[in-house]
Order: sequence, then structure tokens, then C-alpha cells
Amino acid sequence: APSDPDLVARARAAKEALGDKVFVLGHHYQRDEVIEFADVTGDSFKLAKDAAARPDAPYIVFCGVHFMAESADILTSDSQTVVLPDLAAGCSMADMAAIAQVEDAWEDLVAAGVAERTVPVTYMNSSAAIKAFTGRHGGTICTSSNAKTALTWALDQAGDGGKVLFLPDQHLGRNTYVRDLGGALEDCVVWDPHRPNGGLTPEELESATMLLWRGHCSVHGRFTLEAVEQARREIPDVKVIVHPECRHEVVEVADEVGSTEKIIKTIAAAPAGTKWVVGTELNLVKRLAAQFPEQSIAFLEKNVCYCSTMNRIDLPHLVWALESLVEGRVVNPIRVDDEVARYARVALDQMLALPG
Ligand code: 13P
Ligand code: SF4
Repeated sequence: APSDPDLVARARAAKEALGDKVFVLGHHYQRDEVIEFADVTGDSFKLAKDAAARPDAPYIVFCGVHFMAESADILTSDSQTVVLPDLAAGCSMADMAAIAQVEDAWEDLVAAGVAERTVPVTYMNSSAAIKAFTGRHGGTICTSSNAKTALTWALDQAGDGGKVLFLPDQHLGRNTYVRDLGGALEDCVVWDPHRPNGGLTPEELESATMLLWRGHCSVHGRFTLEAVEQARREIPDVKVIVHPECRHEVVEVADEVGSTEKIIKTIAAAPAGTKWVVGTELNLVKRLAAQFPEQSIAFLEKNVCYCSTMNRIDLPHLVWALESLVEGRVVNPIRVDDEVARYARVALDQMLALPG
């Protein structure tokens, strides 16, 4: 539906009144009505860098989800405030790893004598507390755009017979290890935080290289191998492009796999007449279809699949956040505890120092 013209005018007026004092970041899964007011858009890696690149803006309004706003707070200076227009914009995947569970898992690894050979690699989609855990244990953060480099670095750090504890997305961990690094599927085991010792026997733990936390994205987990096969049957020459949070069996048969930014760039570079089915969040797929009408762009699954938490940031919330700033009130600030931020920053800086 078209945006309420009154709200559009109010958002415009508030942004104009704030001028350079506010910098609005928009993740690619945001609604069109919100993207319209973003100063920059990006995947989670680009947005983390973009947030850090505006030290003179006192307010960063983050149109995305909670873990992204936390990361922006950690990477920006103390004098800057990050605002999340709706605090209910979380991420169900990030919620699948609680810091107490991760600390318990690490104790199990210590008891099993493998912790000293284990390097944590933590997906950006995680709480600041888990990023801090990662920093304290010599690991790195990664996003879907640098997971290959991050995992290569971590395996090298772990050394011969070493292991990576990859959290919280088992699919990104598995897909990166097998598809990008050519590793064997048998080297991967799933660590179930609800079972003693992750549900693994000592032998399974000893022989594994990749300890994959049992987490997944509820949106990307819905794409199926059958949907890919159906698209290939129904659309001649179709190209399948998916996000690496999809299940391994889906990623294995896709033509292209990448972060949201990579999906956009790949489609933008394709010739007119290219036919795509896209396995990622629906706001982005719809925007791509509108932006590149000379290609044919369809959603990989027929059933609607927005990320419900990304969608919580809507124009009314954005207007409320911006108008409050105009009135000198900061609503929904995201402030990470200093001690947590210090170690989370170590892990984020490690990611930013990776080559490429
Ligand atoms: P990107 O880093 O590819 O934008 O992904 C973030 C995300 O949450 C995907 O579900
Ligand atoms: Fe989290 Fe999935 Fe939504 Fe991304 S799409 S924010 S991983 S729930």
C-alpha cells in the first residue's frame, strides 16, 4: 500500500530539521516506506562500517534489527547515540543462543580438553554478550559477506586438529565450510544447547572440525529443495540465487549464494531477460523486481515470507523516532554495557581486520 502522505511529509520535515545531526541506516530487508528515508542502505557488514564512518553525526537511527543497532553502538563513539525505532525488532536466530548457554557449552569444551584448540566464529546475528564472549576467547565476528575469510582465518588460528565453534547459525557455518572452503560435510556436527555436552559423544566431538550451534533463521529455513526443483521445471534457464542462511540442500543446488548486498549486485550486473528466483526476504525480492523490470525476478517460495521483526520498523515508528529527536528527546536508545562493549569490540575489530 502507498505510504500515508501525511507521515511522508512529517518524516521529510523531521529529517530536514535535523540535517547532519542524524544519520539513517536501512537494512535491505526494510520496508520501502522506510528505505525511502535511509541515508545509506546495506547488508549487515556494510551498515556496520557505514555507522562507524559517520563520527560527526550525534544520532544514528538504525532501521534494522536489535543486534545491528547494538553493533553500531559498539563501533561508534560514546558521544553518539544509536536509536532503534521499535525495540521489538529483534531476530529469532540471535535469540537461539543465550549467553549462559554459550558459557555452559564452553565449559563442556574445557572439560573435554578441546577448548584450547577451539576458535569461536560468531555471526553478526547475535547478542553483544555473545560477541564479547567471542572477543574474550580469541575469536572473530563474521557476516554472510565475509564468512569465508573469517572461517579460513579461524581454522588457521585453531591449527592442526583444531576446531571452530560457529554460532548461532548452523546453516551459514555449514554452507561456508562445505561450499566455500570445500570441507567435508562429515566434519560438521550440530551442538544442541539443550542437551548435555551438546548431545555429542566424546568421539563425535573429537573427530569434528566444525561445531555448529543449533540455530537457524526462521525466514530462510522455509526455502526448500522442492521449490528449487519446481522453479527449474517451470522456468527454463532460471537462475537460483539464495542467501547462505538457507539450508545446505538448497544452497548446494543454487547458482549463486550471497549476502543481501551480493544478491543485489549480482542481479544488477545481469543482462536484460535473465530469469531469477530469489531465496531471501520478501521486501528485498519485491524491491528487486520493481527495480529491474527488464529481468524476471520471482520469489523462491509461493507463501509470503517477510521477516516479521524487520517489518516492525515502519513509517509511524520512524516518524516518532525522528520527531522525538527534533524535540530534543531520544527514544529507544541502544546502549551496550561498557564491559560487554569492550570485548565485543575486540571481536568486531578482528572481523574488520580480516583481509578483503
Ligand atoms: P546480510 O548481512 O546478508 O544483510 O544478512 C542479514 C540477515 O539478517 C539475513 O537474514
Ligand atoms: Fe534474523 Fe532471519 Fe530476520 Fe535475518 S531474516 S533478521 S536472520 S530472523
